[in-house]
Amino acid sequence: MRTYVVTGSASGIGAATAELLRERGHKVIGVDLRNTEVNADLSTAAGRETAVADTLAAGGGRIDAIIAAAGVSAPKAFTVSVNFFGVTSFLEGLLPALAASAAPRVAVVSSMASLQANSETLVEAMLAGDEAEALRLGAELESRGELEGYMNYSSSKRAISRWVRRECITAPWAGAGIPLNAVAPGTVITNMTRELLATEAGRKLADDNVPMPLNYHSEAVVIARQLAWLTSEENTHVTGQTIYIDGGADATLRGDDI
Ligand code: NAI
Repeated sequence: MRTYVVTGSASGIGAATAELLRERGHKVIGVDLRNTEVNADLSTAAGRETAVADTLAAGGGRIDAIIAAAGVSAPKAFTVSVNFFGVTSFLEGLLPALAASAAPRVAVVSSMASLQANSETLVEAMLAGDEAEALRLGAELESRGELEGYMNYSSSKRAISRWVRRECITAPWAGAGIPLNAVAPGTVITNMTRELLATEAGRKLADDNVPMPLNYHSEAVVIARQLAWLTSEENTHVTGQTIYIDGGADATLRGDDI
């Protein structure tokens, strides 16, 4: 039995992942705003501190794997606080506890949106660890309306995929034997997409941006299975990757550009 930490465990992909891991006999410490083992707000520094402290206490000093699925898709600046800083600072806070595991693993949830139009300056501010500047840039995008505001989401996902790639080969990660990867789902049926997918216009918007010729929109458990493998003992050499689980959307949109 391994001890897993799953953020976003109260809904969607996080909930499906927690359920799958429990079915397989593992211990899961869920982290979410409410209705789980560790209730904390990952959008604020104080909330992240609480999340790290309470997760460490629940793990009893040892954590085998962390899956960071909590996220929001609002076209607003705070999206970068949840989707980027709420992931990176939470993971960094828990790194020492992973050292006690014989097979430590980490996976985060990025998105197909990481390939969509984004703000390079905002991505750079996130990668520089400058949350105040990222929030300032994000608020500027937000003030220009929904379309540009959405770049808070796409930029947060681009930044987290690039962060994974940069960090995975450094001493605290590869040096400590920890594979670090991202998954990039296409359109998944969860609370995040329910409203969008409820109308024909919404489905068309989703499908124009994320075309899925293989098996169309997925259930959350599809993403959960890949997260479970990436964070299992079996994964010894896959690291730094963003794995698209998207029914062929990446292949459709990028073609030969790999
Ligand atoms: P969801 O809305 O069903 O679940 C997200 C969970 O994150 C919720 O339980 C929510 O309470 C939690 N959360 C949000 N803000 C938080 C905060 N400040 N602190 C702690 N927890 C917080 O959404 P879904 O679809 O399961 O999303 C999971 C991840 O998958 C997100 O990172 C999302 O960006 C990503 N994703 C989702 C896709 C989809 O089509 N549903 C596609 C690509 C990526």
